[in-house]
Amino acid sequence: MTNRFTGRCAIVTGAAAGMGRAAAIRLAAEGARVCLIDVDRTGLDETLNTIKTGNGDAYVSPCDVSDEASVSAAVRRAEETYGAVRVLFNNAGIESGDGLTDSLELANWERIHSVNTRGPFLLAKYALQSMLRGGSGVITTTSSIGGLIGTPGLHAYSASKGAVISLTRSWAVTYAKQGIRANAICPGLVMTPMVQRIGKGFIDGATAMTPLGRGADPAEIANLVAFLSSDEASFITGAIIPIDGGYTAQ
Ligand SMILES: NC(=O)c1ccc[n+]([C@@H]2O[C@H](COP(=O)([O-])OP(=O)(O)OC[C@H]3O[C@@H](n4cnc5c(N)ncnc54)[C@H](O)[C@@H]3O)[C@@H](O)[C@H]2O)c1
Repeated sequence: MTNRFTGRCAIVTGAAAGMGRAAAIRLAAEGARVCLIDVDRTGLDETLNTIKTGNGDAYVSPCDVSDEASVSAAVRRAEETYGAVRVLFNNAGIESGDGLTDSLELANWERIHSVNTRGPFLLAKYALQSMLRGGSGVITTTSSIGGLIGTPGLHAYSASKGAVISLTRSWAVTYAKQGIRANAICPGLVMTPMVQRIGKGFIDGATAMTPLGRGADPAEIANLVAFLSSDEASFITGAIIPIDGGYTAQ
């Protein structure tokens, strides 16, 4: 394991499960000091325990990413604890209650967008302020293949994932000269609690559609997040990167 983040303040949202947990563990293993954000306190504690077992540095910050006051306070505390934010993995997201445009309840559209679109905006808003104070930073936001191609059943989700691609490009071109990079990743099927919740039929269908013939392990996503967040990716900004086993190459 390399040490690409020694001493750097990192914030990870959705850190209680899935890709957020895997990325938080990876960043901490490489020396980052990590603020773990999620609404799931039990899951956060499990992630923290894993990091502590590996002698990593982190603390839990229970926080709803859609609530501006909570996000503002969480980012302020991260900067007070670990210094100016250097890495943001903007990853928390939800899918439940989604459906087709002709029948989708407006309340479900709003709820999905409050987490998947407003959340990344708010985290970036306050993290960018900190990165600008510190003079550098990297934002990696979790979009989805649903942000790149049409999805038959997840209309609000796909729209929210398209929105964060546009935000990422705007952040990249706006803040490049201030030493801040921003990229989005577009996972295909990843074997996390989210897809277990959606169900076996979804997993089987997505697996069959994936040229590599399987879902990703969350650690495979963490590999990309760590690379993009590191200085090795110093010339990569505004990139929208599928990590989907070939799904969108078809
Ligand atoms: N799993 C996949 O196949 C897949 C594919 C493409 C994109 N994604 C995206 O990847 C990201 C991570 O997904 P995952 O599969 O690890 O999901 P997950 O459900 O396993 O984990 C998501 C985490 O986000 C947290 N969260 C939800 N609402 C929150 C809120 N308001 N504030 C703070 N935390 C909140 C949850 O508690 C959970 O711990 C999401 O943005 C998701 O849309 C997932």
